[in-house]
Amino acid sequence: MIRFEQVGKVYPDGTTAVDDLSFEVAEGELVTLVGPSGCGKTTTMMMVNRLIEPTAGRILVDGEDIAGVDPVKLRRRIGYVIQQVGLFPHRTVLDNTATVPALVGWKRAKARARAAELLDLVGLDPKTYGSRYPAQLSGGQRQRVGVARALAADPPVLLMDEPFGAVDPVVRERLQNEFLKLQATVRKTVLLVTHDIEEAVRMGDRIAVYGQGRIEQFDTPAAVLGTPATPYVAQFVGADRGLKRLSVTEIEASDLEQPPVAYLDEPAATAARELAVLGARWAVVLSRQGELHGWVSGDALRGSSGTVGELARRMEAWVPVGAPLKQAFSEMLQHDAGWVAVVDGPRFLGVLTPAKLHEALRRSVDADAQGVARDEVEFDSVSDA
Ligand SMILES: Nc1ncnc2c1ncn2[C@@H]1O[C@H](COP(=O)(O)OP(=O)(O)OP(=O)(O)O)[C@@H](O)[C@H]1O
Ligand SMILES: [Mg+2]
Repeated sequence: MIRFEQVGKVYPDGTTAVDDLSFEVAEGELVTLVGPSGCGKTTTMMMVNRLIEPTAGRILVDGEDIAGVDPVKLRRRIGYVIQQVGLFPHRTVLDNTATVPALVGWKRAKARARAAELLDLVGLDPKTYGSRYPAQLSGGQRQRVGVARALAADPPVLLMDEPFGAVDPVVRERLQNEFLKLQATVRKTVLLVTHDIEEAVRMGDRIAVYGQGRIEQFDTPAAVLGTPATPYVAQFVGADRGLKRLSVTEIEASDLEQPPVAYLDEPAATAARELAVLGARWAVVLSRQGELHGWVSGDALRGSSGTVGELARRMEAWVPVGAPLKQAFSEMLQHDAGWVAVVDGPRFLGVLTPAKLHEALRRSVDADAQGVARDEVEFDSVSDA
């Protein structure tokens, strides 16, 4: 959808802002450009809507070399959220949002109706906020208006330059989540600039890590965190990249351990004997259909005449398969549990222990590096030794 071919930009004063950039953003994909201040992120972005012209190479949008496209027509297809929001201070929120539809010749009523719809979409009630001026909004609300404005003409491509830059971390995370939810429905092709690696990892389907004027690595968040291509990237993503990677690595069924199980309708005495044979102190309690009901300790079972179901305790720590490893880890910490159950809908799949969690993380790094599935990776774990 957006393709850079050996693109370079040297400003008239001789500053090389970017050099030999080649990468592609697929249709419906969200790519984040991340790097330190002055590394050429904004320059890269502004070349896509021809606010800046490259001095080398070419850029294609939808297969077409944009050098030959009328910039005004080009910009109709490209929404732009500029750094520092840039709302017009003397126009109301509604009119700000309707800017582009009005520019491209929509009837006033239609443009305003569309603007109201978009404000609603980004979580601002148009009745309350539509008639306000930008100065009467909080920083987070202004940023939402910026996003609504960029989406107003329903462009297939969206350029976002530090769209959540000017707000505190809590509001920022909320805006990020809201945008991800929105993106899941509108599926725009997005280029999002940030200098924050956390944001890049959280938002991007893929990340371009910029050094000075060039891309050091272009890959998925998991791959950038797992196998940084250069020492520069390793330093940029931070010493805690293992921890960050937990949030982008999904739990797979093959990561799990199979603990002893007991069934709801089973006599406690039978279950107690089985646990004793296995030398285990607890069992997961399931229905005969394999649905997770809870857990039971060997101590509770011993000497009891009832069924397992009567003694089962509620399972506090559980996560769905496919959730990030970080969620499993956080459940363990929150419930002070040594393991967490993993389910697929109501069905119990197995448990994740700290050792298995570590193993899953290691396997996923190796799998990415070798280009194979996680369960194909050979691994000697400490617990096997
Ligand atoms: N009009 C210009 N003339 C000369 N140099 C420029 C011009 N605009 C930008 N630059 C330089 O080009 C380089 C890249 O700038 P750019 O704005 O693309 O950086 P950035 O990665 O967006 O930085 P930030 O994170 O601070 O927004 C910088 O060294 C900057 O000083
Ligand atoms: Mg910039």
